[in-house]
Amino acid sequence: MAELIAIAGKGGTGKTTFCGLIVRYLIENKLSPVLAIDADANLNFNEVLGIEVKETVGDIRDDLLQNLGMLEAGMDKDTWIELKLQEAMVETEKFDLVAMGKPEGTGCYCYVNSVLQRYMEILIKNYPYIVMDNEAGLEHISRGTTKNVSYLVIVSDASPRGVRTAARIRDLVIELKVKVGGMGVILNRLTEGEVTEAALAEAEKQKLDIIGKIPSDPLVVKFDLKDRSLLELPSESAAVKAAGRIIKNIIA
Ligand SMILES: Nc1ncnc2c1ncn2[C@@H]1O[C@H](COP(=O)(O)OP(=O)(O)O)[C@@H](O)[C@H]1O
Ligand SMILES: [Mg+2]
Repeated sequence: MAELIAIAGKGGTGKTTFCGLIVRYLIENKLSPVLAIDADANLNFNEVLGIEVKETVGDIRDDLLQNLGMLEAGMDKDTWIELKLQEAMVETEKFDLVAMGKPEGTGCYCYVNSVLQRYMEILIKNYPYIVMDNEAGLEHISRGTTKNVSYLVIVSDASPRGVRTAARIRDLVIELKVKVGGMGVILNRLTEGEVTEAALAEAEKQKLDIIGKIPSDPLVVKFDLKDRSLLELPSESAAVKAAGRIIKNIIA
């Protein structure tokens, strides 16, 4: 079975950064091909992987809806969708990426969505590892776009408030009965001092399962400023090292 790692957490906590670090780890450990799914409408995952996205699954859905009449007259819908999805896929040597784009509007897109979902499920079967970046809400996870999640990583910053938000997300996953193989929290951008101490105390109070901590890493800041792919981070980067230990345990 494919290993699907999905990420949740408040905005700005480091979800996309951690997703990039996971892809980097998988490639370095020859666990490719990896499928990167960007389920955040803001399209950031491709940026940390140093590639461009031209079309999203959301664009395909809009296209399909506009052309449904024409398609029914002649063309085979399934073949058309398959071709379009292939176009939306950004392929590189070690990993591929597909971006979900904006979520559907209010109309009844049931048919179109179910066709797209079926294709995503078939697509997922082609990869041993899938990494899914999410937006701040639990949208895709609660709506069931993300089925078969092997492990859900909740990213929090190292502050008491961040930790409380992570605990709320954990509670929501349990309350909504979202099916995940496992779930754990990471504290990201750790610095030494009072705030981190307070965050750790809060985590204990909330009975949060902290599966790892990633320090604030000047190299990550530098790469972000220069728009450089996190895949190029050197192995001595503190974030790379810490993330490696976490990911090793997750996929073990
Ligand atoms: N461990 C870290 N050390 C230093 N900067 C980090 C670290 N993790 C994330 N950042 C920075 O924090 C900002 C937000 O990270 P990002 O991954 O985009 O968060 P999210 O996807 O949760 O919104 C980015 O500028 C990123 O470079
Ligand atoms: Mg992000």
